[in-house]
This record gives sequence, C-alpha cells and structure tokens, in this order.
Amino acid sequence: MPPILRGLMTKDISITVNGTARRAQVEPRLLLVHYLREAAGLTGTHIGCETSLCGACTVLLNGHAVKSCTVLAVQADGGRVMTVEGLARDGQLHAIQEGFWEEHGLQCGYCTPGMILCAHDLLDRIAQPSEQQIRENISGNLCRCTGYQHIVNAVKSASHKLARKPAQRKAARAAGGR
Ligand code: FES
Ligand code: FES
Repeated sequence: MPPILRGLMTKDISITVNGTARRAQVEPRLLLVHYLREAAGLTGTHIGCETSLCGACTVLLNGHAVKSCTVLAVQADGGRVMTVEGLARDGQLHAIQEGFWEEHGLQCGYCTPGMILCAHDLLDRIAQPSEQQIRENISGNLCRCTGYQHIVNAVKSASHKLARKPAQRKAARAAGGR
C-alpha cells in the first residue's frame, strides 16, 4: 500500500474510475486527486495549486466537472470518475482530444487534462456552445502558457466533431456517469 494511504483510521471505498471498479482503504483526509494519482496510478490528472484556483486537477465525478483537489476520496465512494485516461477508445482519441490536437490547444500541456474534462462537462450540457459560453466554462481553469484562444478554438472544433459522432457523445456521457 502506498505510504499516503497508510494510517490508523482508514475507510474502505469503491470508486468506478474510467469504467473499472476499484476498491481501496484510504484515510478520510485523502484528496481525490491524490487517490487518482497515487492509489489508482492515473497521473494524467495534474496538481497545480491544491487550493481550487487552477483547475489542473479537474475530473468528472458522476458526470460533472469537479476540481479533485477540493473533493475527498471518501466523498466519491460509490461514484463514477472519469479522468483524461478514460477518454480514448480502442486507440482512437476522443473528439475533444482531437480538437485540442488539431487546433493547437496546448503548449506545455500542464493545464490540458483539466481543460479537456471541463470542456467535456460543457459539451455534455450544451452541444453547440457559443464562444462566450466556452470562455465562461473555462474561466476556472488557468493556462500558464496563456493559449486561451487556441483552447476556445479546440472546444469549438470538438463541438462540431461530436455533432457528427453522436455515438461517441452517448458513450462518453455514459462512461462519465451522466
Ligand atoms: Fe486543484 Fe489547482 S490543483 S484547482
Ligand atoms: Fe501550458 Fe496550459 S498549455 S499551462
């Protein structure tokens, strides 16, 4: 068991991560982001500030974008989490990942997993968002490389792609827990 999970008082939790049910014994204080990176080994979810400011740690919890540094792992017990590792299917990038790739929506890539999951939440709710809606949606996610216009273009591109791939939209929504 990784050291971060050891402790006198632990709780058994079960979380379905990217479609796979995982059980673990964790301390009640363990943050979801640390559970994902250290217990589940999914390091695609990044840690920036740990104070809910940057959005680098954004994942979907039961279909809704959350900053996983503000959620305890025990609060996700019984829930469904999707991280960036859960998006591609059968070696094919998800439409949102394609959008970021094609529209140069990343530079260093540190904010990218959080931006992509945040976009996923938006496109689940609004199939064809306006530029203003996209900007408002990512307003809680910081890009230190300041590539915001390319990120907005990437989300727009993804919305057009998903309109042409309704099956992928449906599968992603189901996997995300909506
Ligand atoms: Fe969670 Fe910055 S690491 S918001
Ligand atoms: Fe570098 Fe956003 S691409 S922080």
